[in-house]
Amino acid sequence: MFRAARSVLLLGGKNQAEQAMSAAVSRFSAAAASQRLAGKVAVIAGGASGIGKATAAEFVRNGARVVLADVQDDLGHAAAAELGADAAVYTRCDVTDEAQVAAAVDLAVARHGRLDVVFNNAGISGNVMPVPVGALDMDDFDRVTAVNARAVVAGVKHAARVMVPRRAGSIICTASTAGVVGGVALAPYSVSKAAVVGLVRAVGRGAGAVRRAGQRRLAQLHPDAAGDGRHGRVVPRD
Ligand SMILES: NC(=O)c1ccc[n+]([C@@H]2O[C@H](COP(=O)([O-])OP(=O)(O)OC[C@H]3O[C@@H](n4cnc5c(N)ncnc54)[C@H](O)[C@@H]3O)[C@@H](O)[C@H]2O)c1
Repeated sequence: MFRAARSVLLLGGKNQAEQAMSAAVSRFSAAAASQRLAGKVAVIAGGASGIGKATAAEFVRNGARVVLADVQDDLGHAAAAELGADAAVYTRCDVTDEAQVAAAVDLAVARHGRLDVVFNNAGISGNVMPVPVGALDMDDFDRVTAVNARAVVAGVKHAARVMVPRRAGSIICTASTAGVVGGVALAPYSVSKAAVVGLVRAVGRGAGAVRRAGQRRLAQLHPDAAGDGRHGRVVPRD
């Protein structure tokens, strides 16, 4: 049975968000000592730093093996080395190139014989200086949506390619409160994250292949960079 798309709201600044993500994963894996993810294999896009790196560490702590897919080679190799060669490998993957996304997924399967989780988490903020909407930089819009939205579609597509035949697996996509609340980020970023929300709804609850095939979990995460000191709180949302 398909489990409905779920999301969590993660409150806090960047480092706080990483800590909170770590706490969130720990909470959901309250049976941490029991190696809840033992034998599972995950691809983590944007796994070289930040939330992706913290998630990879929690996954490995819970017994999973991870493929870190990113464009920051030095950080990615270092993160994989920290986690241990048996547990983690880094692969260069520019998520804006669908072929590289497909290759990261295929690497996980070739290396471990299975794929249980794809975390579509790579993201960029784009220009952060506010500009009037009449002066929006459409090249910046294209760059941001290529990483934050189009690449997530590719990630879901290639995760489904592997998971649907097995009728098992979890696909997690990092959105943002900026995708559901106005005025907290610039338009390109907000639009890109709203697209992630729409994608999860479209293929999770609609007539898409992910839902039809059942036996998969599709979720979206909403970190919030409000930086207001409230961190470590995770609020389940639909
Ligand atoms: N930290 C926050 O407060 C916050 C708030 C809202 C949403 N988010 C989202 O959370 C996700 C993780 O962000 P973070 O805060 O950990 O930032 P981060 O910059 O530490 O991590 C993002 C990762 O994505 C990678 N990346 C960027 N472009 C890529 C590409 N083309 N191909 C492959 N990898 C690429 C980066 O190299 C980096 O390792 C992002 O999607 C971000 O938009 C974060």
